[in-house]
Amino acid sequence: MSDKIAIIYWSGTGNTEAMAKSVQKGIENAGASVELFLVSSFSGNIDDYSKLALGCPAMGSENLEESEFQPFYDSIKSKLSGKKVALFGSYDWGDGEWMRIWQEDVSSAGASLVKDGLIVNLTPDDNGLNQCVELGKTLAKA
Ligand SMILES: Cc1cc2nc3c(=O)[nH]c(=O)nc-3n(C[C@H](O)[C@H](O)[C@H](O)COP(=O)(O)O)c2cc1C
Repeated sequence: MSDKIAIIYWSGTGNTEAMAKSVQKGIENAGASVELFLVSSFSGNIDDYSKLALGCPAMGSENLEESEFQPFYDSIKSKLSGKKVALFGSYDWGDGEWMRIWQEDVSSAGASLVKDGLIVNLTPDDNGLNQCVELGKTLAKA
């Protein structure tokens, strides 16, 4: 498995997308290179990446987005074992339950989370974006 890093995300109104771009910045600031994909445009082979940053907001009722992101995630789950993974996403009225469920699932699949999943309420402010940059750095150095 190579040392390649990918960020793959879904975002309906741009909040998780803003997070993804700051995660990218953090990875690049740490001196690593990264490929950024909207989940609908990812056509690569997940086996080619040893590190993944996955982003999806809370949707449905504390779920991942069901029409694009959930099917993608289900399709890669069996390939996550041994990978280093960072999770992030925006939410609104919940308490982050979707992220706790997602983290447990990723860990059960045998991946190692480089940090707790990063959740940001609605549009990330400067502090939220900085946390995304830090998450990217941590993934790059993991
Ligand atoms: C259909 C729908 C379902 C949602 N479900 C939840 C939810 O269960 N819990 C929550 O905290 N926020 C929920 N939200 C709020 C979104 O997570 C929030 O608006 C987030 O900022 C969207 O991120 P995005 O701009 O990347 O799409 C929901 C939003 C929509 C449109």
